[in-house]
Amino acid sequence: MNAPQTPPDLSHLWMPFTANRQYKANPRMLVAAKGMYYTSLDGRRMLDGTAGLWCVNAGHCREEITRAIAEQAGAMDYAPGFQLGHPLAFQAASAVAGLMPQGLDRIFFTNSGSESVDTALKIALAYHRARGEGQRTRLIGRERGYHGVGFGGISVGGIAANRKTFSGALLPAVDHLPHTHSLEHNAFSKGQPAWGAHLADELERILALHDPSTVAAVIVEPMAGSTGVLVPPKGYLERLREITSKHGILLIFDEVITAYGRLGAATASEYFGVTPDLITMAKGVSNAAVPAGAVAVKREVHDAIVEGVSGGIEFFHGYTYSAHPLAAAAVLATLDIYRRENLFARARELAPAFERAAHGLQDASHVVDVRNIGLVAGIELAPRPGAPGARAAEAFQRCFDGGLLVRYTGDTLAVSPPLIIEEAQIEEMFQTIRKVLKDIS
Ligand SMILES: Cc1ncc(COP(=O)(O)O)c(C=O)c1O
Repeated sequence: MNAPQTPPDLSHLWMPFTANRQYKANPRMLVAAKGMYYTSLDGRRMLDGTAGLWCVNAGHCREEITRAIAEQAGAMDYAPGFQLGHPLAFQAASAVAGLMPQGLDRIFFTNSGSESVDTALKIALAYHRARGEGQRTRLIGRERGYHGVGFGGISVGGIAANRKTFSGALLPAVDHLPHTHSLEHNAFSKGQPAWGAHLADELERILALHDPSTVAAVIVEPMAGSTGVLVPPKGYLERLREITSKHGILLIFDEVITAYGRLGAATASEYFGVTPDLITMAKGVSNAAVPAGAVAVKREVHDAIVEGVSGGIEFFHGYTYSAHPLAAAAVLATLDIYRRENLFARARELAPAFERAAHGLQDASHVVDVRNIGLVAGIELAPRPGAPGARAAEAFQRCFDGGLLVRYTGDTLAVSPPLIIEEAQIEEMFQTIRKVLKDIS
């Protein structure tokens, strides 16, 4: 299909997480994608520095995936997932389970990261209840955590703007760990910062306040992406694991961004060598070609729920589109590409060059921190006095104008390219950012 050459009527679409009025005054429109590149409406080729929204890990419009989706759409467009099944759903679950850390081999499908998070929180509550510990209802998240936009996700999440409007309707029994970001201690860390493992000990303080026996789960992103690439301090995740295990509390890693190679391993859990009880995922699981998400659940947790009732539906939860046939086809084709092309290992091999190029920005204008891990980097800029976020917003726009897609959050630019990126493209990406930073005030 030919891309339209003139912008459509913009008035009807209420855009998600977008400054709608600003956007519509100056629309940025993408019309095609292939490999590492988007094409904009005005016909410009744009290097995708963000894998879409941290999700197109195998690069755009991969033929194997589009073919699998098209064939499945022609063979069977939809099948109900409640009390009925289709073979691809089971195959996709097996394929996902095969990439998870040992023991997390029971897979519940969703359509998004937000749904995966709410599903995981419900599984945690159902697990304790099935074991006769129904008093464990409290959930612990973390400041600066992003867990999507469901009521569960914004309750455990730690982004003030996402919570403010809904503050009266958030889940009642939630507490938050402190975040781990510190320019004072950790600026320009390469990989995991040395300072900050002790912040995990705050969990003991929170547990003492509420009593550990009331707490169902702790949920964190092993690497927080959306709030500006916060890499876990050395020893931090290990400590969270120790404390949660000691108190019989489930540990959930929200790997919506980190799963499927972002850090150079199938999961961040594998990368860091810390195994949680549940892993939430979405994005890279289908290379974003069809909306898909999942929760990987430790077998004991699954079994406690599924074998804990005498008959009937064991877990009252699910989505019309859980394991949708097109999503299942996309998941299978995607995971096959990751395996055949060894893309997680490729990310690991590229990581040192990526780190060097990212930290090459240390002396670039306005930069107060560069942090990185795997194929992700955050470049924090000094805020303009009285206008937080404005400098990064301008940098984002200038990058776009210069043919590079980056993301920004607050005053941090984030880059997280598809894992198929070449070293020359890594150089180009950071050189473009350097130039843009030089050109803006
Ligand atoms: C860690 C994490 N959890 C949940 C989500 C929400 O995913 P979705 O937008 O697919 O609902 C995101 C999205 O970026 C995320 O990064």
